[in-house]
Amino acid sequence: MTENVTYGGYLKLNELLSCQQPRTGEHDELLFVILHQTMELWMKQAIHEISAAQAAVRAGDLVPAYKNLARVSRIQAVMTQTWDILATMTPADYLNFRAALGASSGFQSAQFRVLEYTLGLKDDFFLQYHAEGSEARAALEAALKAPSLYDDVLRQLAGAGFDIPQSVYERPSGARYAPHEAVEAAWLAVYRDTQAHWPFYQLAEKLIDLDDSFLTWRHKHVTTVERIIGRKRGTGGTDGVSYLQQTLTRRAFPEIWSMRTKL
Ligand code: HEM
Repeated sequence: MTENVTYGGYLKLNELLSCQQPRTGEHDELLFVILHQTMELWMKQAIHEISAAQAAVRAGDLVPAYKNLARVSRIQAVMTQTWDILATMTPADYLNFRAALGASSGFQSAQFRVLEYTLGLKDDFFLQYHAEGSEARAALEAALKAPSLYDDVLRQLAGAGFDIPQSVYERPSGARYAPHEAVEAAWLAVYRDTQAHWPFYQLAEKLIDLDDSFLTWRHKHVTTVERIIGRKRGTGGTDGVSYLQQTLTRRAFPEIWSMRTKL
């Protein structure tokens, strides 16, 4: 029955457009809400694409994964551009409604952590921000415990004959990834003979694109945050800009970066 489909009905626009409920009458608060909501929607799409890429990689089908991963990088680029819209909000504009935000912060975004965990940046520290038994907490715990995209890539490398210890990609549930020299050696071999290892070479370039665009997003966030709140503490309770600057060192695929120095 497609004849009853309407634009607004299909997209649930009544519901979607009633989700913007600023807590003050300040002009800029609507922009603040919409920027967060659109970013959360893009994160949802990115998680959807990464899980498809991961399923393909796990099945040994590297080529279909390229398409999903390339799409995620483009989504990240759009998310990064969003900071330019936010930058039109001055410190004075933000101060008009900042008190209404209480202790809420993007720091508590469950989807952002699911994204990090799914790529390979596992850190159980962030679980505490979500109540036990909540839907968000369950999603976070599942993503924390599941193998990451990088774990699945390393399993494929090992399966193709590269000498990578199983303990590197099969860690205790939720354990952080630690860079390993055997993994760096495998990527070095791939990049030293790209013709022989083209599928892994292309996959590695897609992964570094993804890490790169994630870092660009982080970088632009911290610059925009400094432009708006200077060195003040964040609503989420961290040191603010100095905390965000530390996150610029997070790499989901560390050996694909470190290997480049040795090539
Ligand atoms: C006026 C605008 C904004 C300001 C001043 C701001 C400030 C901050 C600060 C200071 C932090 C560190 C945690 C804290 O203490 O709160 C943070 C974290 C974060 N913010 Fe924003 N932010 C803004 C807009 C946004 C938007 C629009 C998003 C989109 C979802 C966002 C997503 C995040 C995320 C995901 C984190 C966690 C980063 C991490 O831990 O790696 N922020 N933000």
